[in-house]
Amino acid sequence: IGLAVLYGGRSGEHEVSRRSAASILAHLDRDAYRVTEVLIGRDGQWQVDGVPGTLPAALRVLAAQDVVFPALHGPYGEDGTVQSMLDWLGVPYVGNGVFASAAGMDKAVTKKLLDAEGLRVATGVTLRPGEFLSRADQDRVGLPVFVKPARAGSSLGVSRVDQWWQLPAALRMARDADEKVLVERAVPGREVDVAVLQHPDGRVEVGPPLEIRVPATAAFFDYAAKYDGGAVFHIPAPLDPATTRLVQDRAVRAFHALGCRGLLRVDFFLPEPAPARAPAPDVAIGHSDGDPGWEDPGWDGDPGEPVVNEVNTFPGFTAASQYPQIWARAGITFPRLLDILITGARS
Ligand code: DAL
Ligand code: MG
Repeated sequence: IGLAVLYGGRSGEHEVSRRSAASILAHLDRDAYRVTEVLIGRDGQWQVDGVPGTLPAALRVLAAQDVVFPALHGPYGEDGTVQSMLDWLGVPYVGNGVFASAAGMDKAVTKKLLDAEGLRVATGVTLRPGEFLSRADQDRVGLPVFVKPARAGSSLGVSRVDQWWQLPAALRMARDADEKVLVERAVPGREVDVAVLQHPDGRVEVGPPLEIRVPATAAFFDYAAKYDGGAVFHIPAPLDPATTRLVQDRAVRAFHALGCRGLLRVDFFLPEPAPARAPAPDVAIGHSDGDPGWEDPGWDGDPGEPVVNEVNTFPGFTAASQYPQIWARAGITFPRLLDILITGARS
């Protein structure tokens, strides 16, 4: 079987993609697959098996494969752009298609679709280019907040704001990654990830929840905590059976709500009882013009309902990443996981 692993890419997660691809390449059964490595440089230059070449030459190599494994994270790779190109080439590829990839890359769009499905998402505001947070918005969202680029990954550009004076710098940092940003009320509680895997016969399997414990030195599960170690994963998460079933059910619903194929990792917060609201600030930061794009989901269900933080249509795939670790714990080894995804892509 001719298989190309496509990795690197132009996003801020280039290095993470290299690490994911290295693990995938190390675990592929070389008796079963004839492997070609296709690397997209940070600058958008293409290399096939280490040899720089033109885009048309690389596309001819991709088109000649039996299957392509896009191991890309972030914009220009996990967002439907590369998936669209592979559709045009007519070559089967692992994982999510154009729609799910595009919807899952944009946290504001993801939230709308999951909210429509009845899942709980964090209260927040989407700010488009040139928009700032109005006083009314500040009062409604309440501190602390997380400020995030709508379309990025690995927590790049994400920061926590405990006082409103910190907001302008947080917005600037997020806007370095994406002009469209989210300001979301922090959800105090435990952080739990759930892996969804689709088998070649279409059956959707959900793995044991994984709990992330972040070191006290990190403000949250940020880039450094993700990749420079320190965070500890508990698999299965020490949850009661009802909560385990609840997050697993919500993860599968998210998978279908986004029209996913192959795989998805859904990241949750299990909220603690709500603390008292922070007092309103004295000064307004910036302005918003008329309708700033309010996105309060107005969720008013069970307070024990898990909050979906975000989804990953191609989650981290290093051997130490959550997704492969969850399946290893469930008895699906890394090579077997790759076989399932590749077979699924071709059926
Ligand atoms: N976006 C990174 C790779 C993750 O969520 O695993
Ligand atoms: Mg992510």
